[in-house]
Amino acid sequence: MSAADFVQTELQQVVRAAKQRFIMDLHGLHGVGHWQRVCENGLRIAEQTGANPLIVELFAFLHDCCREDDGTDPGHGERAAEFSVSLRGSILHLSDGDFAVLHEAIRDHELGLTEGDITVLTCWDADRLDLGRVGIRPDPRYLCTAFARRKETIIWALKRSGW
Ligand SMILES: [Fe+2]
Repeated sequence: MSAADFVQTELQQVVRAAKQRFIMDLHGLHGVGHWQRVCENGLRIAEQTGANPLIVELFAFLHDCCREDDGTDPGHGERAAEFSVSLRGSILHLSDGDFAVLHEAIRDHELGLTEGDITVLTCWDADRLDLGRVGIRPDPRYLCTAFARRKETIIWALKRSGW
């Protein structure tokens, strides 16, 4: 198995674990459709920001998997970060440094912060750019990277989010 195949297999296992952990409707507001759009948003932003694409993908599929409702659900970031710790060493293999970045991105994604490591910021923008699905147009003031704040990027994301 090549290194790329290994990473892909591992990502698929993480997605499967996230789906198994999810207790709400997988086709709901914070289900797999959202996870996939966050992934696409994140990879597109990462091409411009230099963010770590594997961390961005892992964030997309893990950050909302421990939600208990579709509201603000305080603490769902912390729960998902803890869940990611539980996968480490079995189906999730990252260096200590990369795992710390993933953990921070997941744990703090619900806090509305706009400063930090560029991979963390890319993850948060990927999530916020999918707000169109709940009728909210992403506000550039709450986006972290110059690329995500561009009008063209927001419109591109809005179209895909069912705006
Ligand atoms: Fe999300």
